[in-house]
Amino acid sequence: MADTNHIKHVASPLARQTLLDSNLTRPVAGKKPIRILPWLQVVKIGGRSIMDRGAEAILPIVDELRALLPEHRLLILTGAGIRARHLYSVALDLGLPAGTLAPLAASEAGQNGHILATLLAPEGVSYVEKPTVANQLAIHLSAARAVVASAFPPYHNHEFPGARLPPHRADVGAFLLADALGAAGLTFVEDVDGVYDIDPNAPAGDSALMMRETSYADLAKHDGTLPLDRALFDVMANARHIEQVQLVNGLKPGKLTAALRGQHVGTLIKTGAQPA
Ligand SMILES: Nc1ncnc2c1ncn2[C@@H]1O[C@H](COP(=O)(O)OP(=O)(O)O)[C@@H](O)[C@H]1O
Ligand SMILES: [Mg+2]
Repeated sequence: MADTNHIKHVASPLARQTLLDSNLTRPVAGKKPIRILPWLQVVKIGGRSIMDRGAEAILPIVDELRALLPEHRLLILTGAGIRARHLYSVALDLGLPAGTLAPLAASEAGQNGHILATLLAPEGVSYVEKPTVANQLAIHLSAARAVVASAFPPYHNHEFPGARLPPHRADVGAFLLADALGAAGLTFVEDVDGVYDIDPNAPAGDSALMMRETSYADLAKHDGTLPLDRALFDVMANARHIEQVQLVNGLKPGKLTAALRGQHVGTLIKTGAQPA
């Protein structure tokens, strides 16, 4: 007991405060986080819109990605498509919960990533798993100009149970990763020129109007279908680094290249991130 005076106290501005009081945490937590990989371009390749189309859509994208390597260092993330949709329907019919569906769908996004990485292997590109993205992305991108990973966030069994379908899918995962890394940009590659007021491929699609520019807030209020996950807009509201993303048509050669060069060739979506 006599030694009490020699106890080392670690001074911490958060030591005696509740983390729930934002007035108390703001002086410490209010700072903008550092950009971990500020030169990184993140590219999300659609599962349904690109990968499911097979060679006809995949090979031109692979050529375009290959040609981009000398210019950009890329994290290529793949989404899930038709196999995940089939899986969802079987699993939902069996009554399985969202937390069980999430890793099953994520595994298809991973399969699509393996396909893409295999085609880019001669360029030194490999598929890496989520823990490698989390822990060793920098070393992989020092060894190669690009790596491929699944775009699904690893919520897995921790997926939020509100809806029967996992709400945090490939678009959300790609955005969370790009923003956490402080990447230079994030581009969504799909099979449409951009985001429209109504689905351009629906029966009444001829009258669809493309939005050249929109925001997460406007899309969150949008009533009809969208080519992006709804939960993406909640995440975009709280973004720290990525101020805008662009959705481009991967079936039209050159659009992805132009987007990575900062050109406006699809739909730009503003996020809630404030400029530095
Ligand atoms: N408002 C909209 N604007 C553009 N595309 C839309 C819209 N609503 C639905 N779509 C459809 O979304 C399709 C892409 O589907 P999506 O599920 O996003 O594919 P992926 O799995 O590749 O992300 C497009 O081909 C288009 O038909
Ligand atoms: Mg999509």
